[in-house]
Amino acid sequence: MKTQDFDFLAGLLKERSGLMLTADKVYLLESRLTPLARKRGLDTLDALIQKLRISRDDVLIKDVTEAMTTNESFFFRDNTPFDLFKNHVLPAMEKARGPKRRLRIWCAAASTGQEPYSLAILLRENWAKWQGWNIEIIGTDICTQVLEKAKAGVYSQFEVQRGLPIQMLIKYFTQDGDVWRLNDEIRNMVTYRPFNLLSNFIGMGSFDVIYCRNVLIYFDQATKKDVLERMHGTLAADGTLFLGAAETVLGITDKLRPVRGQRGMYVSSSGNAEELMGLGS
Ligand SMILES: C[S@@+](CC[C@H](N)C(=O)[O-])C[C@H]1O[C@@H](n2cnc3c(N)ncnc32)[C@H](O)[C@@H]1O
Repeated sequence: MKTQDFDFLAGLLKERSGLMLTADKVYLLESRLTPLARKRGLDTLDALIQKLRISRDDVLIKDVTEAMTTNESFFFRDNTPFDLFKNHVLPAMEKARGPKRRLRIWCAAASTGQEPYSLAILLRENWAKWQGWNIEIIGTDICTQVLEKAKAGVYSQFEVQRGLPIQMLIKYFTQDGDVWRLNDEIRNMVTYRPFNLLSNFIGMGSFDVIYCRNVLIYFDQATKKDVLERMHGTLAADGTLFLGAAETVLGITDKLRPVRGQRGMYVSSSGNAEELMGLGS
């Protein structure tokens, strides 16, 4: 690939999704965009790049952006963020939000839905406790294709084997040939919508819990800071933010701080969330 073509694509992707591509990732562009070129009736990736340069076709740019996203996800990924949700976040929120009985949870890079559904399952496991509550779980992602799969709630044998305890599989899924369909009681607990983290958060409202896992790793420092600080603005003062195992706020923003000893868990620097959750600092 010519340097100017690489720079053009890298610039476009950075602007549209925040994705940072370094020169060693040429193979990634080739392996993901060549099939898209063929689908569009173009013989080569060069032809696709030419078309992008000339037409600036918005649908094509969206397809290119989506094709370059990495959508890997699985149920109860890394366990700890879900154990902490169950054992600390939910009990704290039950107390703090008891008077209003309202809980808002945002999975900001929800991909194919395993993360929001894992949270929905944990809530469902103790459902009697949440009767009369208005609980919203909102899953957003820039990629509309993955959101369609998330909404459908249909997973392969391989996907349900990754992280989902067998008793939960049996309780909340129905086998249909060689796939597993998530039961409506869980599926209906999550609302999905397309959302780009680079766009304005106004209108999102305030969240008690935010999962923004395994997406900031693709952004540069300035974009990470921008997203984290705007996310801090949507997080309740006593709310909790979960990031991926390879992500942190340290050295990026001081509006949020890690909860000591709890990997991947962050709270507002000016709030009292740790106290509420019984996780002393
Ligand atoms: C690796 S997946 C993470 C899924 C899930 N959070 C997890 O940890 O299992 C990253 C997701 O981030 C999404 N993404 C990438 N850039 C984004 C952006 N600018 N705004 C919103 N979502 C984005 C991708 O489409 C992809 O589905």
